[in-house]
Amino acid sequence: MNTKDVFVSAQAVTQQREYCRLASELLIRRFGDTPRAFVHTYGCQGNVSDSERIKGMLHEMGFVFCDKPEDADLVLFNTCAVREHAETRVLGNVGALKPIKEAKNHHMIIVLCGCMMQQAHIAEKIRRSYSYVNLVFGTFAIYRFPELLYRHLRENKRIFDIKEEDEKIAEGFPVWRDRSFKAWLPIMYGCNNFCTYCIVPHVRGRERSRLPEQILAEAKELIANGAKEITLLGQNVNSYGKTPDCGMNFAQLLRKINALDGDFLIRFMTSHPKDCSDELLQTMADCEKVEHHLHLPVQSGSDRVLREMNRGYTAQEYLCLIEKAYRLMPDLAVTSDIIVGFPGEREEDFQKTLDLVHEVRFSSLFTFLYSPRQGTRAAAMSDPIGAKTKSEWFRKLCGDQEQIAAMRSKNLVDKSFCVLVEEENEGMLTGRTSENFCITFPGKKNLVGSFTNVIVTDAGNWTLSGRLAMESKNERLETENEHERYCKNP
Ligand code: SAH
Ligand code: SF4
Ligand code: F3S
Repeated sequence: MNTKDVFVSAQAVTQQREYCRLASELLIRRFGDTPRAFVHTYGCQGNVSDSERIKGMLHEMGFVFCDKPEDADLVLFNTCAVREHAETRVLGNVGALKPIKEAKNHHMIIVLCGCMMQQAHIAEKIRRSYSYVNLVFGTFAIYRFPELLYRHLRENKRIFDIKEEDEKIAEGFPVWRDRSFKAWLPIMYGCNNFCTYCIVPHVRGRERSRLPEQILAEAKELIANGAKEITLLGQNVNSYGKTPDCGMNFAQLLRKINALDGDFLIRFMTSHPKDCSDELLQTMADCEKVEHHLHLPVQSGSDRVLREMNRGYTAQEYLCLIEKAYRLMPDLAVTSDIIVGFPGEREEDFQKTLDLVHEVRFSSLFTFLYSPRQGTRAAAMSDPIGAKTKSEWFRKLCGDQEQIAAMRSKNLVDKSFCVLVEEENEGMLTGRTSENFCITFPGKKNLVGSFTNVIVTDAGNWTLSGRLAMESKNERLETENEHERYCKNP
């Protein structure tokens, strides 16, 4: 596949930006000089990143952003389809918009987009049962949002666009970021893996990578604007660079970003175990700006279930990978995703998952009850285990992991960490260590967005408490050794 087939042409992007201008004229006529938009994002960081691009377009159309749908002229929900629960939540919240629109603002424009809308049966449901929704588009039409909104404004009719033929990357749109020091940087879109339970390849299309020069240019811009942490995003970042042929793999891309000037850290997600190469682990170990945190979803500890899931590795292969990674980076934090109750999973399969969890001792774990997704292969598999048993397994897994996490975090007490401060609330600061532990400590708001050294004073199951280090010269000397081990980029 050549680049022409992967990227939206520059003319098409220019045309969409012209639609921004045309739409803004109609918007001013309808809502006055400063129309207000409320944007809410469901789902993964990939969706958050898409919303930043959508907000860039809205900003170009003249919108300012507000915090409540009640105050908005345009409400946009960027939706997620990964589990049924996510979809139910979206539909509930869309339902709640109806009385707001009726009572507060009859002209309110309601827009639904993202993964959930890319499914024909959902778009149809919205068309039939949610007549007050004005505009629906799927993941492939994001770059055409200005045109779609313009058409809605001009023709004053409902617009639905969930066509699938447009699996392309659009470069050159402005991006609206809510905060400058922590940034999402998409490096690829889509997924080729077709894990049998997963809706993502169905709603996001085939894997396609951004060109290294585009990624590096965006990274430089982010750093120049104060980014302290850049998270590279993709459903399977380890297979970066194949379509189109980018002339480099993910490890090589990481080295290039690591070589950029500036005081910043690099994270990435998500890594697929089947494509996690020795070269990548070595690169993580070598690159001083790359955090020693690996999110490596295992999904199950049973080879039989892994096969049924189409994951492409065995539990033993996963364990070998983790061992290799720990050997190279003794301070590595490994986190993972696990699905409980996959169709046909038996007691002995679940036991193998528990065994694996106890062997790896993850820093943290995202656990999900299996949720059948229409159109996936697993949705058609027989699923004899009842919901009650699955819930018991789920509780057992969460309980065991909680104990593991509690023991791990107890070991962190009295250690010093380099923390990127993310938030301030009533004199308490919250940040993340390079290993991605959340830590809370007293401090001043002016530290938000900067790195600071914190000593852990107490460890709960989910978060750590701490205090600012370096308050005295003695402490600086005492913590220096630990600091060497736990803080790679002071
Ligand atoms: N691309 C990433 C994950 C994307 S979805 C990867 O391959 O690791 C995030 C997580 O949601 C998955 O890792 C999986 O654990 C969970 N998930 C996906 N589909 C699911 C389903 N149908 N039911 C329950 N959990 C699911
Ligand atoms: Fe879904 Fe598997 Fe692709 Fe991840 S790798 S997005 S779980 S199909
Ligand atoms: Fe959800 Fe789509 Fe992300 S289904 S998890 S928002 S790719």
